[in-house]
Amino acid sequence: MSGLAPWDKQGQLAALKQLRDSTDNLIKYISEQDGDAPITPSAAWVFPYTPDSKHLADSWRNDWSLALSKTLNPTQLLVEFLCGDHESSALHAFHTLGLAEVLPGPNNSSAAGIEAPILAEKVGAHVEGLRSVLRMLKRARIVEEEGEPLSDRWRGTVFTEVLRKESPIPMGAMVEYARDEANQAVQLVPELVKRENAGKSGISIKYQQPDLFALYATDGDARRIQRFNLAMQSLSPIIAGGPTEDYPWKDVTGLVVDIGGGVGGQTIPLVARWDHLKIQIQDTEPVINDAKHVWAGMPPPWTARVQLQAHDFLKAQPDDTAAAAQIYFLRFVLHDWADSICIDILKALRSKAKPDSKVLLLEVVVFGDDSRYANVLSVHLGAVAGSHERTESEYNALLVKAGWRPSKTYRTRSIMSVIEAVPA
Ligand SMILES: C[S@@+](CC[C@H](N)C(=O)[O-])C[C@H]1O[C@@H](n2cnc3c(N)ncnc32)[C@H](O)[C@@H]1O
Repeated sequence: MSGLAPWDKQGQLAALKQLRDSTDNLIKYISEQDGDAPITPSAAWVFPYTPDSKHLADSWRNDWSLALSKTLNPTQLLVEFLCGDHESSALHAFHTLGLAEVLPGPNNSSAAGIEAPILAEKVGAHVEGLRSVLRMLKRARIVEEEGEPLSDRWRGTVFTEVLRKESPIPMGAMVEYARDEANQAVQLVPELVKRENAGKSGISIKYQQPDLFALYATDGDARRIQRFNLAMQSLSPIIAGGPTEDYPWKDVTGLVVDIGGGVGGQTIPLVARWDHLKIQIQDTEPVINDAKHVWAGMPPPWTARVQLQAHDFLKAQPDDTAAAAQIYFLRFVLHDWADSICIDILKALRSKAKPDSKVLLLEVVVFGDDSRYANVLSVHLGAVAGSHERTESEYNALLVKAGWRPSKTYRTRSIMSVIEAVPA
């Protein structure tokens, strides 16, 4: 048995007590909330959702995983970690069979659960395979088995609702994207971490295209880019709520410019939430043309406050934009690019910035105590784009090199942060 760690009784007890303390903190926080408090629509969350609650919930999850690491033996812990792929394959199978459409869910609570043989018949599965999939999902509470364990009568939950075709949170597209081209790229992470592959993406190795967008542009299959856009939309309850709620937008009076804004992934929640904000979305000409279609269908009180402008972010701002702009923000732009390009983008903004204007970086900033999803995103970004998430000091260094002075970092209720800088 040499080489195996001895029983660490004190370490186990300390970890369990730490978990008990963070559980108590969370219980205290939730107990103190008004049960009728509205949950912001941009959060789409089942929890009183503020920056404080997010940090308490993150600590609780970290302490829970510490306690787990102290109570599982090394084989148990590593096997469970390795099996994440099986869990996501089971979810993919569930989605491919269309089970979310068939199972009775919380909106249909009086309907009886469906027995696995009947379910298998309905969706064209064989019952043994189906049961393995359902049992795996049941462990994560994604589906429920009615009554006693092994009753074999199955129901959906709030988690399967978002996999239904008409869900406003299109998680089905996320499952398909994650298990298709993204998975092809993620499988190559062991190759990508090798020194000779620095800066390459899994997409470049697998598909000989520099990144996902180049792949989609040459794909000839418009469904894949549409699916990608829906998948990104489905993530908004994890990412979008924070910067929309937790930056002091109420104090902004001048023009806001959304640099590399796409069709308005961040501008839409901003104009929906803050009815005084005027925002100019800038992107490349083809994207702005797409944006025109998207905005043609938006509510007039929003469109009245939004301008669409084709502009290359490596060039200085047009004079009229620069004269009016109080805020330039970049969401998920810099994390795609090497340092030298980031500095060029930030310098182009600095060249015409007024003394009282600000630049905001809306990114998943790495703090070292990051959530599971933030860690997944970093690996994912390396796989599909050959880039990586940065720490606060790495972003600050880019800003300083481009003539900006970092003034404040807002850690928001979502996994995203807002790094604010003013002209140096
Ligand atoms: C990852 S997307 C982020 C989109 C948006 N900010 C969001 O968070 O949903 C990066 C965006 O940068 C845009 N982009 C790439 N090169 C650009 C350039 N030279 N000038 C302006 N925009 C550019 C892309 O078209 C794309 O919309």
